[in-house]
Amino acid sequence: MANKRLTGVLNWHRARATIHSMGVLEAIIADIRQHRPDHIALTGDLVNVGYPPEFPVAARMVDKLGSSTDVSVIPGNHDAYVRGSLPAMDAVFAPFMCSDGDGNPGNSVLAERFPYLRVRQNVAFIGINTGVPTAPFFATGTMGAEQGRKLEKLLEETRNAGLFRVVMLHHPPVTRGVKFGRGLTDARRFELVLRRHGAELVLHGHNHRFSLQQMAGPAAQIPVVGVGSASAVPGTAQHLAEYNLIRINPGSEQPVQIERRGITFENRMVSRVGLVTLHRTGN
Ligand SMILES: [Fe+2]
Repeated sequence: MANKRLTGVLNWHRARATIHSMGVLEAIIADIRQHRPDHIALTGDLVNVGYPPEFPVAARMVDKLGSSTDVSVIPGNHDAYVRGSLPAMDAVFAPFMCSDGDGNPGNSVLAERFPYLRVRQNVAFIGINTGVPTAPFFATGTMGAEQGRKLEKLLEETRNAGLFRVVMLHHPPVTRGVKFGRGLTDARRFELVLRRHGAELVLHGHNHRFSLQQMAGPAAQIPVVGVGSASAVPGTAQHLAEYNLIRINPGSEQPVQIERRGITFENRMVSRVGLVTLHRTGN
């Protein structure tokens, strides 16, 4: 076992094993299914230490959400824990991490498949991979220049097609308020791409808590939304299992509504824990 993985496993037993529960995750999955969303975005960290046998176990959970047509996955830092983790993830999740019409994603090179583009109704889902192996105790991510260039092109194409553009990446793509060793190393690059080409919504994971920030686009502010962990054992106001049920109304003055649904310490059922309506804003 790689040194970093050993550290990760020890950390798991010390802390994470008691704050994540598969029973909680099952309840969240059941609630998601009940709401029949048009599409599901999983923003990464499906496993703990990127050990190949972890991925088929994660896949059994993901399969409960839907097929690869209805579920889009992007890798997180734990999915890319050490060299060899991402290929092991890809062997299981390639159909969930590819563009529309990519009939045989398992045969193509993972790095060349990102960013991918999936169009559902009038919404474009653009998936970026920021998962890269890092030194122990680091949880950083990187988009890279090549993905940045491809992202620019995809954002232009999808804007010209009149689509509502949702960009998904695991790490919060902001430079403010990020703890040392946990952020996106080239967040500035991402910010510049979005400032120039725009997007209507950015979704990320990583922080295990809901967050709402804004990023400047060419014509309007772009909402940047973080999500809680779907397997967190309810403990404090900050740590609860939840997901975001997002309603998109392109063209309206309130184009995005986010219903946070989760399990609180007081209420062990999955219920609404917050509702945020976003209004169209200029820069
Ligand atoms: Fe993460």
